[in-house]
Amino acid sequence: MKFFADTADINEIQELAATGLLDGVTTNLSLIAKTGRDFIATISEICALVEGPVSAEVAATDMETMLSEGRKLASIADNVAVKVPLTWDGLKACRALSRDGIMVNVTLCFSANQALLAAKAGAAFVSPFIGRLDDVGEDGMSLIADIRTIYDNYPDLGTEILAASIRHPRHVTEAALAGADVATVPPAVLKQIVHHPLTDKGLAQFVADWKKTGQSIL
Ligand code: E4P
Repeated sequence: MKFFADTADINEIQELAATGLLDGVTTNLSLIAKTGRDFIATISEICALVEGPVSAEVAATDMETMLSEGRKLASIADNVAVKVPLTWDGLKACRALSRDGIMVNVTLCFSANQALLAAKAGAAFVSPFIGRLDDVGEDGMSLIADIRTIYDNYPDLGTEILAASIRHPRHVTEAALAGADVATVPPAVLKQIVHHPLTDKGLAQFVADWKKTGQSIL
């Protein structure tokens, strides 16, 4: 499973990119607003830091304007994935942009049927929102599993399942178990998943025992 960072914060992206484990970045309009920075400049900087796909979301809701915005965003860098919402206009824009060879991430997916439509529209990624479904008492992870089954039934559909709205480490594990191709994870959660208290305890013990030997490997 690939890991994308779900943030528009350049410092956070820089730190995560330095690990060599970052496969891409997702932003949305709210994350861009949170930075208080210029949208185009921010996406351009992120694209220079990360080789993989960087999602940049259109702000319009009608197809024609989405297309114009999408083309402008795609012109920032080759690794921009234009994000469009899962509406009829969004799907039509997805179809047109995909046909032009532009990567499209269809966002705000909350049902398996919506994911099927995104794939038929040629999306490179579909983003089912796990946490927001959990928030309203539904089971976000079963949506990932359903989409996986449906996409596997039709191998011609090339869309990757990008598990989004991830809130905690368990979501990451479950998304991988359910067969998500990508998990987009907030930096705080990405940092959490490396830690386990028994790793820290075990390492402290190994280091202490090694010191007692008086040896040096180098
Ligand atoms: C990513 O592409 C989504 O926009 C993001 O994961 C949404 O997360 P949230 O539900 O925590 O806002």
